[in-house]
Amino acid sequence: MNNIFRQNNLVTKQDRERQFGTKGAVVWLTGLSGSGKSTIAVLAEKMLTDKGYRCYLLDGDNIRLGLNSDLGFSDADRTENIRRISHMAALFAHSGCICFVSAISPFAKDRETAKKAAKTMDVSFFEIFVDTCVEECIKRDTKGLYKKAIAGEIKDFTGISSPYEAPTEPFLRIDTCSCTPEEAARQICNLLSFVQNLETMCTQICDVSIKAGEEILAVYNSDFAVQTKDDKSPLTQADLRSNKVIVDLLTSQYPDIAVLSEETKDTGERRQNPFCFVVDPLDGTKEFVKRNGEFTVNIGLCAYGKPILGVVYAPVTNTLWYAAVGCGAFSQTSDNDTYFDEINRIFVSDKTNDFTVMASRSHADERLAKILDSNKHRIKETVSAGSSLKGCLIAQGKADIYYRTGLTCEWDTCAMHCVVEQAGGVLRQLDHTPLVYNRENTLNDKGFYILNRPENTLE
Ligand code: ADX
Repeated sequence: MNNIFRQNNLVTKQDRERQFGTKGAVVWLTGLSGSGKSTIAVLAEKMLTDKGYRCYLLDGDNIRLGLNSDLGFSDADRTENIRRISHMAALFAHSGCICFVSAISPFAKDRETAKKAAKTMDVSFFEIFVDTCVEECIKRDTKGLYKKAIAGEIKDFTGISSPYEAPTEPFLRIDTCSCTPEEAARQICNLLSFVQNLETMCTQICDVSIKAGEEILAVYNSDFAVQTKDDKSPLTQADLRSNKVIVDLLTSQYPDIAVLSEETKDTGERRQNPFCFVVDPLDGTKEFVKRNGEFTVNIGLCAYGKPILGVVYAPVTNTLWYAAVGCGAFSQTSDNDTYFDEINRIFVSDKTNDFTVMASRSHADERLAKILDSNKHRIKETVSAGSSLKGCLIAQGKADIYYRTGLTCEWDTCAMHCVVEQAGGVLRQLDHTPLVYNRENTLNDKGFYILNRPENTLE
């Protein structure tokens, strides 16, 4: 890439999104030949277009008739096929378009290329696994290709004589044996329409968190009593008042979205709903009781278990951190004395050593001490902060790493998880699997880490 310089356009992505009324995104359908990818993508493209959004489908077969007609089906040619489609899809999305891709894309590393291309163009990426097993594809064999492949007339055929690496963490998995193509397309259409409205929702949820903060501060500035809950954690009127404001506002403004909150009895009904708010009305009650200001209101929103919107609000410093898929992550501090609002898009740091490591104010244990000790040559300093502020500081690039070995609950992590990811960072369980939300058991019992960059694990 010597002597090549990126040219910035005068028309921005945001300008195009406003002009076309569509937030760009890449919706990547992967699955075996004959799994139903193209059928579903064609329907979803039509449904979203009928709703007024700008869409375009890049179909594997079609691209191979033109741009990629020089490529065959060797591993190297498939990689090149997906590389070209990846960059094309990212460009379409960047131009203010929901770009569907239906291509087998059998190799995980090539789908990573597609994700990276979208990230580089600052557009969201949804991997959709059209999960139809090879036996079912052979049974359907709509193009008659499996028959030929089994007879040895087509070589390197995916699922028969060439491998398919199923995605391990798709945004959505569609089991085509248990739903019709129309139902599958409707599901994708609902998800993408939902995502189109996240920016507006984010503003509304920030307002909800500020109202909750007012309730909390009213108690903070008074003589308050502290009760002890069954799990021995403290509870104050501030937790309950904040919870009431949040749950009342969310359920009246978004009656179709489920709510899981630390301070509301969980009936489990939420699990039927793919969209769920995950709320901690006052994270850091211990810090609240100590009156050190390091407590926050946390409102996360997950879709199919993945955090897609998050708001963290620290009432004492009047600081907000918020993020949504397709928008990025931001911090905003309001200074009431001068009416000064500063909004910043935030990004994680790009450090690979000399880390600033976040430590919990109230939790420490041996396992954590060991991890930190065996990495002390890579650590510059250790800094403490309460509640979800640790994740926010990493999202802002003011710190780099946080390891949490002890127990937490979904509401402790969901909002900051979104902020961290949209700022370019990573939050995963200690066994490196993703932390998902709206689960039956709301306890995060595997521990987790937050990293500025995925390769910076402290092993
Ligand atoms: S990919 O593996 O490079 O992602 P792509 O989606 O572009 O594949 O093209 C797959 C389509 O090409 C199939 O749906 C099928 O119609 C056709 N095809 C022809 N030969 C093969 C083969 N050897 N393996 C898979 N698909 C093939």
